[in-house]
Amino acid sequence: MSVVVLGIESSCDETGVALVRTRDGGVPGLLAQALHTQAAMHADYGGVVPELASRDHIRRVLPLTGQVLEQAGLTSSGIDVVAYTRGPGLAGALLVGAGVACALGAALAKPVLGVHHLEGHLLSPFLSADPPEFPFVALLVSGGHTQLMRVDGVGRYTLLGETIDDAAGEAFDKSAKLLGLGYPGGPALARLAEYGDDSAYKLPRPLLHSGDLDFSFAGLKTAVLTQARRLESAPCELMRADLAASTQAAIVDVLVKKSLAALARTGLERLVVAGGVGANARLREQLGAACAAQGVRVHYPEFDLCTDNGAMIALAAAMRIQAGAEAPRADYAFDVKPRWPLDQLATA
Ligand code: KG4
Ligand code: ZN
Repeated sequence: MSVVVLGIESSCDETGVALVRTRDGGVPGLLAQALHTQAAMHADYGGVVPELASRDHIRRVLPLTGQVLEQAGLTSSGIDVVAYTRGPGLAGALLVGAGVACALGAALAKPVLGVHHLEGHLLSPFLSADPPEFPFVALLVSGGHTQLMRVDGVGRYTLLGETIDDAAGEAFDKSAKLLGLGYPGGPALARLAEYGDDSAYKLPRPLLHSGDLDFSFAGLKTAVLTQARRLESAPCELMRADLAASTQAAIVDVLVKKSLAALARTGLERLVVAGGVGANARLREQLGAACAAQGVRVHYPEFDLCTDNGAMIALAAAMRIQAGAEAPRADYAFDVKPRWPLDQLATA
């Protein structure tokens, strides 16, 4: 019997709503999705303002829900389960999604399921044209997280390594800010980097040879700051592009080398890349070449599902239900978990 899941994502600055339907013996299928990004609203402040984010989620979530129902040709009575992002993320923003999901569930007399945001990212490539198979190594690279995980199945995640300071997305965003680029900085830095020489600046690649699978990007940010200050005193557009290209190269280099080390250590031959930084063209190019040379298959989410969205939340809920990992609940006693390590999913 198939189950229709409505998924609501509101952990940060994107309101995402989607509908998926489970399929017997197969990956759930996406019926409809809608997204509102708050990037323009936060751009004036140079970063996400949590209170503004929460208020905007409240404005968007129900109209977006109406949109996906219409797209899918369903009415609210066609929803079997309401899923929402339970964490990690901004507490107030998470509470909007959780509150709305539980209110909808209670009104429709349908159960709800709280989903881990990173599990959503991790499973999002299952909605792509080239879905992976378990087991695989996952490189999770978002604005808040940089982790390598071993994934043996739904809910079976082992942390292999993670950042000890800044996340890869944060390194992109902070460097972009130092280069005078707007928020969100990752895509802007990547665009500027296209015009630059990636070997113009020798930037540090921290922990590259540490022998473990951990990351550190704080030192890179300091090095970029030093060079950006020099550029301020003698502005040069070409050198700015060179610095952007060199920064991107340093981040990508570390991500590629550590991913290959994780594959070698686990003996696995499949890599899944998820999270916003997974949209980076240079990362895709370098990983593609390095993995092809090792006979490793790389899987990505579709481009529009790399950054935050409702489809990955609906999908993760549907896959958890299908795998028998978790049953949706009808007590509507929602709580959110702003800090929630993925490897503690089972004990939450
Ligand atoms: O997964 P995501 O949408 O949100 C979090 O859960 O954090 O990731 C957002 C991050 C931001 O740091 C953004 O700058 C980065 O992903 N990002 C990129 C690109 N697109 C998004 N970084 C580098 N290159 C890109 N093309
Ligand atoms: Zn995310």
